Amino acid sequence: MKREHDSITSVMMEERVFAPSVQFSKGAHVSGTKQLASITSRAAKDPVTFWERQASALSWFAPWKTAMKWKYPHVQWFVGGRLNASYNCLDRHIISWRRTKAALIWEGEDGTVRTFTYQQLHTEVCKCANALVSLGIQQGDVVGIYMGMVPEAVISMLACSRIGATHNVVFGGFSSDAVAERMNDSKAVALITQDVAQRRGEHVHLKLAVNEALKSCPTIKNVIVCKRSDEPTKMKAGRDHWFHDLINAASHVSTAASLPSEHPLFILYTSGSTGKPKGILHTTGGYLTQVAYTARMVFDLKDDDVYFCTADIGWITGHSYIVYGPLANGATLLMYEGAPNWPEPDRFWRLIEKHRVSIFYTAPTAIRAFMKWGESWPRKHDLTSLRLLGTVGEPINPEAWMWYYNVIGQMRCPIVDTWWQTETGSIMISPLPGASKTKPGTATRPLPGILADVVRRDGTPCAANEGGLLVIKHPWPAMLRTIYGDDERYLNSYWKEFPKKRNHPGWYFTGDGARKDESGNIWIIGRVDDVVNVSGHRLGTAEIESALVSHRHVAEAAVVARPDEIKGNALVAFVTLKSNVNADLQNLREELRNHVGKEIGHIAKPDEIRFTDALPKTRSGKIMRRLLRELVTRGDVTGDTTTLEDRGVLERLRVADEE
Ligand code: WT7
Repeated sequence: MKREHDSITSVMMEERVFAPSVQFSKGAHVSGTKQLASITSRAAKDPVTFWERQASALSWFAPWKTAMKWKYPHVQWFVGGRLNASYNCLDRHIISWRRTKAALIWEGEDGTVRTFTYQQLHTEVCKCANALVSLGIQQGDVVGIYMGMVPEAVISMLACSRIGATHNVVFGGFSSDAVAERMNDSKAVALITQDVAQRRGEHVHLKLAVNEALKSCPTIKNVIVCKRSDEPTKMKAGRDHWFHDLINAASHVSTAASLPSEHPLFILYTSGSTGKPKGILHTTGGYLTQVAYTARMVFDLKDDDVYFCTADIGWITGHSYIVYGPLANGATLLMYEGAPNWPEPDRFWRLIEKHRVSIFYTAPTAIRAFMKWGESWPRKHDLTSLRLLGTVGEPINPEAWMWYYNVIGQMRCPIVDTWWQTETGSIMISPLPGASKTKPGTATRPLPGILADVVRRDGTPCAANEGGLLVIKHPWPAMLRTIYGDDERYLNSYWKEFPKKRNHPGWYFTGDGARKDESGNIWIIGRVDDVVNVSGHRLGTAEIESALVSHRHVAEAAVVARPDEIKGNALVAFVTLKSNVNADLQNLREELRNHVGKEIGHIAKPDEIRFTDALPKTRSGKIMRRLLRELVTRGDVTGDTTTLEDRGVLERLRVADEE
């Protein structure tokens, strides 16, 4: 931890309080502050028993013997128990009245609607599971999924978990290099993709990217291609198979594998502050227990709800709150293929009106975009079906919260601001909509069974409103188990800050700064390291820098974020060119942005590129991003520059800024 993180000053103070309406509270799973307080205090005294009770809500093939085994920093939950995630999301519902209930209502960008009842989704998943088996895919194998937002993505995930294959979903907006890196790191044996994904009226050629990626993915033996267009697609004999051919040939009879609770359910890559992306590993029993519980409680899910989460399947939100959490509860979910502003900026509102959506879960970055597009778009639509709103991904600024509350929720819908991470697997800090008093900008308090706190670097608790570090003091069921293939990095990334010592159990450090107000609400200030959050996506600056440096003209690069009204953060890249370069700088800027787009994906493209002859560095050669951050946010550097190697560099950067 660097010195600048020692104290975090928060300037946000919010006084408006919103309590749930009597009517909402009355019908909610948890109603009233008293009930929540009593559940929370009971759970805090004995979190393991609390989580055992939640685990009993799932269907187990064999009961667990030990609820939690904690051997710092590794945890196991429900040891000895056996279950299957796909079974819990499907099979147990089709033996009830839910068999004919809509599980998944999908709308394509072109307006096509496909609806799957639980029975129909079960049939598709069983066929897909058999198709995977027919290709020789076995329990324990890793299967890549690189798709857009189509039902087959959900079907593929559930088919993997059905046979005990571990899925590794790569966001469909990532480039072929990103696919290759993630497939190789996880040693995936197969990859499920699409010919094209549909985005803003255009085709994104996923299969072409896969062809490129597979030039350097020796472990992948089979590629399954889901057809989304009539465009001809070149298939490589022996390696590439059409999804529909395999499905049509497959039997619909498939028994869900009985898997140990700790069987790896999925790997999902997320950016770290340094080096390559981290393969976050989640397992079955604990993960499913917590996502099912939180989906039910935080979204107050009921059987007659239509639940719409706008996240992409390629992020943890898509895994936990499109697929596993809602389906484990037998919910009806709406899944939309395209962008919010296609063909016009009212697409989401149109969907809500058309499908009578009752619960809507999105990100602050999306809300800021809706605000920018204007109230007239939502005002055109009947949004009276909505009863609950949620957000996730970054701190929501009070202005956006109020807009969401007034314009979308029409002052009727509670807002759940949910704090969690890819690593936590599941929501950790959030209001419960029928019980919590909310304030714009705070995720309020840790959920029952979660022991989160804000502490100083020495581990002592922060005073009210004193900025500090957000830690989790007790293992939770959906906790990541490790970083795939790099347990040492797991230890260093999350357990180094507050390690186990004599008289100290060891705490998980979230990497976030936060403060706790006098009523116990937690206000997230942001990440304390160099990872930048752009449009709700966490990006490692190091990755973007190495992408820039891979361009033939670039010598060195440093990327920092500056606050941006819409995206949350905008990326500014400081780039030093190789000395022999004699290029048109304006063209080169575009070229570099496109280069990053190709290497990582379009969301990582720097918004601004500044050329400089040198970067501020410490004597040991570390780039001082803190100074660059100050420069781009305040226009000047006032912080400590004593460790700077060459002070002239800053002067030259300032001048460059004025040019
Ligand atoms: C980081 C995790 C969890 C799915 C989306 C992002 C920030 C997330 C909130 C929130 C303030 C938030 C944190 C966290 N974050 N939700 N409600 N309020 N900050 O997952 O990419 O793993 O990022 O996003 O900084 O550590 P992720």
